[in-house]
Amino acid sequence: MKLIRTIKELQAELDTYKKQGKKVGLVPTMGALHAGHASLVKRCIVDNDVTVVSVFVNPTQFNDKNDLAKYPRDLDADCRLLEEVGATFVFAPAVEEMYPKPDTRQFNFAPLDTIMEGAFRPGHFNGVAQIVTKLFDVVQPDNAYFGEKDFQQLAIIRAMVKQLGYTLHIVGCPIVREADGLALSSRNARLSDKERNVALNISRILFESRTFAVGHSLKDTVKFVEDSIAAVEGLRLEYFQVVDGDTLQSVENWEDSDYIVGCIAVFCGDVRLIDNIKYKEN
Ligand code: PAF
Repeated sequence: MKLIRTIKELQAELDTYKKQGKKVGLVPTMGALHAGHASLVKRCIVDNDVTVVSVFVNPTQFNDKNDLAKYPRDLDADCRLLEEVGATFVFAPAVEEMYPKPDTRQFNFAPLDTIMEGAFRPGHFNGVAQIVTKLFDVVQPDNAYFGEKDFQQLAIIRAMVKQLGYTLHIVGCPIVREADGLALSSRNARLSDKERNVALNISRILFESRTFAVGHSLKDTVKFVEDSIAAVEGLRLEYFQVVDGDTLQSVENWEDSDYIVGCIAVFCGDVRLIDNIKYKEN
């Protein structure tokens, strides 16, 4: 595995493989890698000849400076994990490499980017689109891998690829959870032991809501989740929204779609966590 810092060097390495007709896969990450990322990288290795993992904490997708400053960073640990899993290249550029000048591009993925994360983190998806398009343009991968934990991000990236005419294939990979249900997230590293126990209630309540949903209306299921989260000391619900899994538009009744997902954002102390659960899948 090779650690690369510049676009020029990465492109020179990839050119050699591309000239031989090798397939290139990209796993974009912001580092602080865990088993969830490892599952994306493993899938990428199976599907492609060359696996590029980018590790870049993208400043333009943070609407909260504090959140950006506190985002966990440990490139040495990331490289150890990626070496073990078998990535070909780690691309870890400096901010100036990716943004030699401010990126003023404005994307519009309405209505996908105006709700949920888009409503609570203004500009977030514009920043995601800025860096993901830059990475796509630099690497020009055949396949790119994203986790379903960031359910809305995945839907927006699929829409972006269509809108901008990229020919690469987007592969969505399932959420990876700890044995006790907690969805893996780089932000979990910021939870104290006590907070981690509190955060566990998020997945517990989502799983319970799937059982509750059988025999209850969608509206009552939303209330079940809202009330259950409110009953846990140390959790503060930002949103829980039940949406169509493709269009991300709110769904009022279970019969309204055959792909229904509940998306949640919750503060545990000052750590903001997201998770989701599929109630119906097509
Ligand atoms: O999901 C993430 O970690 C980031 O949003 C991504 C896709 C790597 C872009 O910075």
